Amino acid sequence: MDELVEMVIKYILTSKHLVAFTGAGVSAESGVPTFRGSNGLWKRFKPEELATPEAFRMDPLRVWEWYKWRMKIISHAKPNPAHYALAKLEKLGILKCIITQNVDGLHQKAGSQNVIELHGSIWRVKCTRCNYKGKVEKPPEKIPPKCPKCNSLLRPDVVWFGEPLPQREWSKAVSEALKCDVMLVIGTSGVVMPAALIPRIAWENRAKIIEINPEDTPISHIAYIKVSEAAGKFFSNLINLIDKHVTSKQN
Ligand code: OAD
Ligand code: ZN
Repeated sequence: MDELVEMVIKYILTSKHLVAFTGAGVSAESGVPTFRGSNGLWKRFKPEELATPEAFRMDPLRVWEWYKWRMKIISHAKPNPAHYALAKLEKLGILKCIITQNVDGLHQKAGSQNVIELHGSIWRVKCTRCNYKGKVEKPPEKIPPKCPKCNSLLRPDVVWFGEPLPQREWSKAVSEALKCDVMLVIGTSGVVMPAALIPRIAWENRAKIIEINPEDTPISHIAYIKVSEAAGKFFSNLINLIDKHVTSKQN
């Protein structure tokens, strides 16, 4: 495993434009449930009843109850070494941006600045009628919450099944995928479109894909390096070693 860490470090440190693409698995060790897999949310809940615009129209309270429950879990979650390592790599000027499918805000909580949120954020709401958008600090006491401007229903500012991705975020993500020469793909099942195209676009443009995921995914066969380990564990090792490399360079 040490050899694998050293190899990943080599590609990270010699990269010209390093980008990370993350999914629910990067937050798993922070206690935030993933969607797929044996303990995944989609084993216990039906996406079509909770994460579609139709579901919200039919039963906004039920959808809000689910989001409130997830907000509670996320509000107690702390970033793990994978989030911190990515934030540190950005500070060092090595990592240029994170493209995430996560709505939990844990990358930002760890200190990352340049985060492209492809699926929105659980910490924002938007009005179902007017153009009001707002931030949420904690799970709302009263659900479903109402718009302060027009009193219509507010909804989480996240992307639901059947909805397009936010256009500006998508274009930025594609442009980063085209710019990068190395992409870290961390904790995603790589099956949700169009987000899952991002590593493919990078790969088709000759970027080296480094996948960190204990399971194999449809991305594994395009990966130049595959690390079959939990992200938090792997990155806590990696960041200690990177510290050593960087300090030895400075001395
Ligand atoms: P998934 O739940 O589909 O996949 C999580 C991935 O993380 C799996 O491949 C796991 O093997 C891996 N994993 C689990 N624990 C890990 C760990 N400790 N370290 C590294 N990897 C680990 O999550 P996403 O790929 O993010 O969309 O799902 C994509 C989208 O599907 C989500 O953004 C959400 C969901 O429906 C919407 O809600 C629109
Ligand atoms: Zn409104």
